[in-house]
This record gives sequence, structure tokens and C-alpha cells, in this order.
Amino acid sequence: MQDIDEIEKSLLAQVVVSDAPRDVLKSPELKQLYGAIKSMSADKRGEYGKRINDLKLSLESSVSRREADLEDKTVVTIDVTAPWDVNTCRVELLPTEFGSQHPLTLELENVADIFTRMGFEAIESRQIDDDYHMFGSLNFPENHPARDGYDTFRTEEGFIAPAHTSTMQNRILVAGKDKLEAGGQIGVVALGRCFRNEDLDATHEHTFHQYEGVFVSRDANLGQMLGTLRSFFECYYGQSLKVKTQPAYFPFVEPGLEFAIEKPAALGGKPGEWLEMLGCGMIHPNVLLAAGIDPKKYRGFAWGGGIERLVMLKYGIEDIRHFESGKLQFLRKFA
Ligand code: PHE
Repeated sequence: MQDIDEIEKSLLAQVVVSDAPRDVLKSPELKQLYGAIKSMSADKRGEYGKRINDLKLSLESSVSRREADLEDKTVVTIDVTAPWDVNTCRVELLPTEFGSQHPLTLELENVADIFTRMGFEAIESRQIDDDYHMFGSLNFPENHPARDGYDTFRTEEGFIAPAHTSTMQNRILVAGKDKLEAGGQIGVVALGRCFRNEDLDATHEHTFHQYEGVFVSRDANLGQMLGTLRSFFECYYGQSLKVKTQPAYFPFVEPGLEFAIEKPAALGGKPGEWLEMLGCGMIHPNVLLAAGIDPKKYRGFAWGGGIERLVMLKYGIEDIRHFESGKLQFLRKFA
């Protein structure tokens, strides 16, 4: 029996470290123990047989435990707070080799690229905001009719889905104030989604993508703004362009302008065919003040436009609703 105890100990020790624990049940030592039964006298056989049987049972339960442990180890734990890509066993909807970037993603990157090469910092705009950043900080007086000029989505709690392209302006100014006062400039372009609760047609969507720019320095001026915007459009469409402006009212700029380009000839434009591209102007002193920037020392300009308009013109897309449609026929054109 001494031997059996030793063998049992050694087999159990093998099971707890084995990657194939069930193999231990076929080990030669065990076979030998079974084999010994035959040559045993009848009076010893009963006790011996029971001992071997106990050994087998304890080995089997140890094997099952070891197998369960091994199985647990192969389950990948998911961090439910992490973005998809860090969880290896994520759901795969479509094989990714057939996918391509959405045209708006491509062009947002293109726009960010042009402005960053000009020296602007590119940031992402917010998708949920509040009354202060949509109106209050931007020189919209309380109860002013201009507050109703946007078809604004609001949550029951009073949050706002940004409905115009200037909701990042106060944040950009506040964040850049120290740099400005240390002798630097503020130059930021904010890219992201805007939302409007309006009837949809070929030129109106509930969601559009903005490129909002803010520049502040000691001597920023309208000429610099027009030069910046013209350079941007010429770079984006890859040709020289005529531009023009006309006065427009936005509470957060003075003067406020609408900026138009002559439709690029390469895209079938004829002389005198003007396309309004964005709103812009010199930042209103009250907007600088709201961000703690002294309007007597600093001046700034700002603009805001929609990426869809840029992209529709570039690719001759006739209906803005294609972008959000998810139609593969449309998306594959940009693959
Ligand atoms: N925020 C305005 C809009 O969305 C555009 C604009 C931006 C106008 C900056 C002037 C200055 O319509």
C-alpha cells in the first residue's frame, strides 16, 4: 500500500500542472496497478481493488478540476468600459477588408490637414452642449430672436445638440488665453457634428459636419481672414479661385460676412457662378470679454462652414442625404 500512496501522490502532482490532464489516467503506473490485481490472492484482492478504485476516483475528480481551470484561462475577460478595439473578441459585422473610409471621414482629415499645415491646431467639437456655449458666451442676448434662428434639438434636461458651428469658440478662447498673454496666438480649427431639427431634402440634413476656425492675435484683421480662407479653398480644390463676401448678421462677429467662391472651372463652373461656402467675421468684443480676453489688446476672426457642402461640390454629389444613407452603392465610389 505504501507504493500506491506514492504513486497516487505523483499522479496527482502531474495532473495539476498538465495541459492534457486526462492523459494521466492512461499512465503506465496506473496500468501496472490494475495489472497487479490478477496475480493477487483472493483474500487481498478485495481490499486492494477498493484502494485502486479510490485512487481512480480521486484522480478523475482532480482531472476534471484541472480541465475546468484550463478552460477558464482561455476565456478573454472584456473591459466593458473600453473602446471596441481593445477587446479582442468583439463582434465582427462585416469583414473589414471590404470596407472603406466614409467620404466625410476622408475629407474631414483632408480639411484638418490643410489647416494644420497652415499652423492651426485641429480639435474635435462636442456633440452635446449647453445654452451658454451655444448662445450665452456668443453675445446672443437673453430672449433675442436670433436664438430661434436655428432649428435646435434640446434634451428634456436642457442640453443642446450643437446647431451652429461656433459652439467651441468660447472654449477655444478660454483655453488659449494664457498662450495669447504669453505673446503667442490662438489658432484652432474644430471639426465635428452639428445637428438641426429641420425638414430633410436634397440640401438639408439633420446632421452635418462643421469646420469652425478661430484665430486671435494682437493684430488679426479681415485681410488675414480672407487670405486664410482663400488659401484654404484654393488648396482644397487645387486651383486658384475668385472669392467674394457679403454682409451677414451673426451676433458673435462684427462685421459678419458670408464668404463665397466662384465655382471652380474644373468642376464645370462658369464665370459669375458664385457658391456661398461659410459664415465668418471679426470676433465680437463681447465674445472675447466672455472668455476673459481684453478686446482692447487682442483681435480675432472666426468662421464656420459645413464639410458636406465642400465635398458635394468636389465630387458632384447631388443629394446631401446620401452621406447618412449607408448606401453601399454610394460609399463604394470612394473606396
Ligand atoms: N456659426 C455660424 C453658423 O453655423 C457660422 C459663423 C461662424 C458665422 C463664425 C460667423 C463666424 O451658421
